[in-house]
Amino acid sequence: MSNHEFESHFGHPPSVASAAHGRVNLIGEHTDYCGGYVMPTLISQRLIVEMSARDDNRIHGLSSEFGSEDAACDDISQGSWLAFIKGAMMLMNEKGAKLTGLNVATTSTIPAGAGVSSSAAFEIALLRGLSEMTGLTLSRKEMAVMGQRIEHEFIGTKCGIMDQMAVAMAEMGQALFLDCETLDTQIITIDEACCIAVIHSGSSRKLSSSLYNERLSETIEAAKQMGHDSLRNAKFDDLDALSDETLIKRSRHVISENDRVKTAKAALKAGDMMALGLAMVESHVSLRDDYEVSSDELDQLVSEAISQGAYGARLTGAGFGGCIVALLPEDSADEIIEAIVQNCENAWLVDCL
Ligand code: GLA
Repeated sequence: MSNHEFESHFGHPPSVASAAHGRVNLIGEHTDYCGGYVMPTLISQRLIVEMSARDDNRIHGLSSEFGSEDAACDDISQGSWLAFIKGAMMLMNEKGAKLTGLNVATTSTIPAGAGVSSSAAFEIALLRGLSEMTGLTLSRKEMAVMGQRIEHEFIGTKCGIMDQMAVAMAEMGQALFLDCETLDTQIITIDEACCIAVIHSGSSRKLSSSLYNERLSETIEAAKQMGHDSLRNAKFDDLDALSDETLIKRSRHVISENDRVKTAKAALKAGDMMALGLAMVESHVSLRDDYEVSSDELDQLVSEAISQGAYGARLTGAGFGGCIVALLPEDSADEIIEAIVQNCENAWLVDCL
C-alpha cells in the first residue's frame, strides 16, 4: 500500500504517515507481567500507518491484512481490528486531543501471530502518527504505556509492557534491557561478531490468549501465596511456601528467568556469546518444562539450531507456536540458517540481524 492507495481509497492524501518496527525478545520471557526483566531488540520488518482526521464519529480502516472496514466509533467492539484505532484515538483524546473520527490505511511486513509484536507496532505507529497530527507531544514511555492500555482496555489482552516498550524505545542493532517494574532501561549494543536469527516454526500461536491469561493468574496466585506483590521479589527459598506443583513450576521459571536476563545482559556487554547462548538455552528448557509454553515444532527448531552450531536458541514471545530466536556466529550464520530451514519442515527465516 502506498500514499497513492490511501488517496484513491479516501479521495485525499494522508495528513500524516508513521511507522514502527516489530521486536524479537532475546531473553526474559513471561517475566514482564511479574515486574521482572526482559531484553528485546527490533527486527527490520515494520508497519506503516497513514491517516487523516474525520469530522464525523466514524473510523474507516484499510489494511493490507484485514481489508477495508468502517464503523461508528460506538459500534466498534473488542473483536474488531478497528478497536486498535478507536483505542489510540480515545487515549489521545484523554491527553487533550479533540479527535472525532479517523481514516487509517496500514500496511505491514511484520508477520502476525508469530510472537514478533505486530500488534504493539500497530499501536505505537498509530500513537506516533496521532501525536504528530495533533501536535500533542508524547514521550516514548508514555506511548508504550498507552499502547499497553489499548491492549487492556480496547482489545481485551492483559499483556505485560515489554512489547510496547521495545517497539517505542529500542533501536535496530541495540538490545533494550528493561526493568518492567520501574520501566528503567539500559541500551546494550549488539556485538557485530554475532547474528540474531528469527525463525518461524510454521505454526502460529495456538489458543494463546486463554493460556496466556491462565499463566498470568497462576503467577499472581503464586506471588500471593508467597506473600509478595509480584514474583519479581520472590526467591528460590520462597518456593517452600507453595504446595501446588504447577505454581511451583511457574514460579521457578520466573525466578530463574530473571536471573538469566541479568546474566545475559552481562554476557552481551562483555561480548561473551557462549555465555549468552547458554542462558538462552536454559531459558528455553525452563519455558518448555516449567512454564509449559513450548510446542514440538519450537523444541525441534531449537535442537536443530544448536546441533547446527548456534551459540544458543530459544522460543521467543508468548510461545504456543510462533518463532525461535537463535544466536549464531556471524561467519557461519548463512549455512546454519540454511541447514535449520532445510531440516525443519515448514520453518522459514523471518529476519537475520
Ligand atoms: C506477549 C506479551 C508480552 C510478554 C510476552 C511473553 O508477547 O504481549 O507482554 O508477556 O508475551 O514474554
